[in-house]
Amino acid sequence: MSKSLSKKLAVVVMAAGKGTRLKSEFPKVLQLLFAKPLLSRVLDTARTSKASPGQYCVILGHGRNQVSPVLEAYQKQYGISIETVVQEPQLGTGHAILQARSVLKDFDGDVVILSGDAPLLRTESLEAFIENHQSTGNDLTVLAAHLDKPFGYGRVITEGQRIQRIVEEKDANSEEKTVQYVNTGIYCLNWQKIEPLLDQLSNQNAQGEFYLTDVIGLAVKRGDRVGSSSLEDWSESLGVNSRQDLALCHRLLNERTQDRLMSSGVTILAPEMTFVAPEVEIGTDTTLYPGCTMTGEIRIGKRCQIGPYTTLSGFVQIDDDAKVIQSSVRDSSIGSFSVIGPFAQLRDGAHISHHVLIGNFVEVKKTHIDHHTNASHLAYLGDATLGSNVNIGAGTITANYDPIRDIKSETHIQNGVKVGSNSVLIAPVTIEENSSIAAGSVITRTVSAGDLAIARARQTEIKGWVVKTKAKTNPSA
Ligand code: UD1
Ligand code: MG
Repeated sequence: MSKSLSKKLAVVVMAAGKGTRLKSEFPKVLQLLFAKPLLSRVLDTARTSKASPGQYCVILGHGRNQVSPVLEAYQKQYGISIETVVQEPQLGTGHAILQARSVLKDFDGDVVILSGDAPLLRTESLEAFIENHQSTGNDLTVLAAHLDKPFGYGRVITEGQRIQRIVEEKDANSEEKTVQYVNTGIYCLNWQKIEPLLDQLSNQNAQGEFYLTDVIGLAVKRGDRVGSSSLEDWSESLGVNSRQDLALCHRLLNERTQDRLMSSGVTILAPEMTFVAPEVEIGTDTTLYPGCTMTGEIRIGKRCQIGPYTTLSGFVQIDDDAKVIQSSVRDSSIGSFSVIGPFAQLRDGAHISHHVLIGNFVEVKKTHIDHHTNASHLAYLGDATLGSNVNIGAGTITANYDPIRDIKSETHIQNGVKVGSNSVLIAPVTIEENSSIAAGSVITRTVSAGDLAIARARQTEIKGWVVKTKAKTNPSA
């Protein structure tokens, strides 16, 4: 880690705004980008950076009752502590930062301010920005970007190389509106030095808000060291203010992720028909066929075939040389050389070992399946364990649910068992090693090792019945 990144650092995320233009019943920062709230994505960028912030503060306002549980889950998942302050009413970004005073009273270091609605900033860009701020000895640094279409953003007004102030779109005159150098809404500042300026903000502007951006002009006037640092890739500054912005963020992040994967040796046959969350990791020589959607902590090994038309979500682990074809997998794992699908569903803790076949129209839920076991067609396996070298015939059902008592029970199928087609195993039940179940059986008791269980009415035949019946109905024929 570079020495200049070692200064004490706090992160403040502004997340109180409503996001009126999204026309949503959820606050803006909870809109999902690849199945993860925008706010969580912004926190991820700070959390995974080498700058390793010692303190986090999130400013809540609109929909805070919805945002708080998301933050609680986030803290639990990543073991960090996040302080929150409430901004009520929301009188602008400057007013938002004023609320952080209570939390940062005695803080002596740099504060990075992020917007909860700008999720595309790369960790490396944030690190470079903080490094730039600290190595130049600035009191305040603005992260800026050059945009072809700067409409809607605050414009960074400079004289020569020096930043003078920021003017918001709605307050800008026609000349200022032509400026393409914009404020990304990300700042780094010496808290002790800049914080007193917040008292000087006024709301005498087009929106009647206390603009954080006015702090820049105030600091320049006072003679502070104020600078701006430019993002190379403008798209990292994109803020989500509308559904159109959200779609654009998905497209850009998807392209960025697929670019990373392809550069590391993954084949993606139809990038525009593939949807991959940034946290997905895939090994070399794996091929993604068209129509794959992957969201969550997905880990895929080498030489796998995924798709076409496959959905992976939640926590999914797929080992080397596995195939998942036209199937849906959620919170489950698949061992090497196993083949899933087409048209299979694995969910909620389906753990499949190596060399297993799960075929068409087979659903597996909360079930462990050991190696070289096949369930090739039309089955439901839920709340069960299956040993190795088991064969599950077409139409087998583990009847795990008792709807009267509303309880689920387990089925245990040991190594080497062969279950005949169309059998129902009424849980709780154990089918011991190397036993066999005749097709069409309804099994309610333990089947002992090596035995054959037949639990169906015996077949009877009535000699000549068809001929006799026809003769009776139509004697002349
Ligand atoms: C802001 C900047 C603008 C910049 C743009 C980049 C100001 C005045 N303008 O404009 O220069 O180009 O971001 O995206 O800062 N928020 C609060 N409390 C409030 C108002 C906003 O917490 O009272 C939060 C919002 O939830 C959001 C962030 O602050 O996460 C930015 O607010 P937003 O209203 O989106 O500001 P912009 O108009 O985009
Ligand atoms: Mg915005």
